[in-house]
Amino acid sequence: MKKILVIGSNGQIGTELVLSLRERFSSATVIAADLGENAPELLKNGPYVKLDVLDKTSVRDYIISNEIKEVYLLAALLSVTAEKNPAFAWQLNMDGLFILLDLAKEKYIDKLFWPSSIAVFGPTTPANNTPQHTTMEPTTVYGISKLAGERWCEYYHKKYQVDVRSLRYPGLISYKSPPGGGTTDYAVDIFYKAKEGTIFDCFLNEQTELPMLFMEDAIRATIELMEAPSENIKIRSSYNLAGVSFTPAILSAEIKNHLPDFQIKYKPDFRQAIADSWPNTIDDSIAKQQWGWQAKFDLPRLVDEMLKNIRK
Ligand code: NAD
Ligand code: SER
Repeated sequence: MKKILVIGSNGQIGTELVLSLRERFSSATVIAADLGENAPELLKNGPYVKLDVLDKTSVRDYIISNEIKEVYLLAALLSVTAEKNPAFAWQLNMDGLFILLDLAKEKYIDKLFWPSSIAVFGPTTPANNTPQHTTMEPTTVYGISKLAGERWCEYYHKKYQVDVRSLRYPGLISYKSPPGGGTTDYAVDIFYKAKEGTIFDCFLNEQTELPMLFMEDAIRATIELMEAPSENIKIRSSYNLAGVSFTPAILSAEIKNHLPDFQIKYKPDFRQAIADSWPNTIDDSIAKQQWGWQAKFDLPRLVDEMLKNIRK
């Protein structure tokens, strides 16, 4: 059975991706990798290795000597943390990608997944039903790094036939592991406050509409994309992907249907400008046509699932 490595396994996406891949294939062949000495509790059902994606020699040695054939590269700084340390964000988000693209070019890896983001779009992009191919002038360090990454993925595919696949994830909503420093994190934090019964201070204003996706849908999209026949994957930069779009006001109204006493206050901060530069809704029709993508979670189902599962 092919060996799969997930780099950045301990984060919001990595935790659930590793668990899903281990269920689908086998626990022994899906290796989690992150900076920490030991695997987090949830990932102790399979192999774990301490690996810094910026340590080129160690990454190459590990992948080559263990005959890893598929890699999911999730290590990155997200939009908010990247703004706090632009130079390091650029280094982490780009250098890690090149190390893996080169291993694929040299045919050590057969298939690479690398996530992009709605952050590749900017204030000059049409905000509603944002098309796959459109104006892209991101204004954040994170968005610039993701757009550059997309261009490099396409370049390595065209020039060296590297089988690299990518999704422009919207904000991801999950309960198994917390988000890691993004602008869409409010839409996860809100559920913890709702369950605690405390007032939620929202760092975005009530009318800020952003594209979001429930984690179960995101993981399914990732695995479906990776398993689709290569000839169906015609976009090698990154696919638009959509689930559900909502504002903090709409989300809190849906939470109030379950918890009528829930209260939200709006205290927009510097993250408002980042959110304002991103789309409201995404057109993912090309992903639907080319590899059969379809989201399953609408807002009521997403809220219901979060409130049922999130721990206080
Ligand atoms: P996260 O911050 O929750 O997790 C990232 C993980 O990478 C962390 O466990 C961290 O320890 C690890 N990491 C950081 N530096 C590393 C290094 N040098 N070597 C190895 N591991 C390192 O992020 P996430 O939300 O899981 O996002 C994963 C990917 O998906 C990122 O590329 C992100 O840009 C992208 N993405 C996420 C979202 C979202 O809403 N979560 C949306 C769009 C795109
Ligand atoms: N959820 C991510 C962020 O807010 C979007 O890529 O940074």
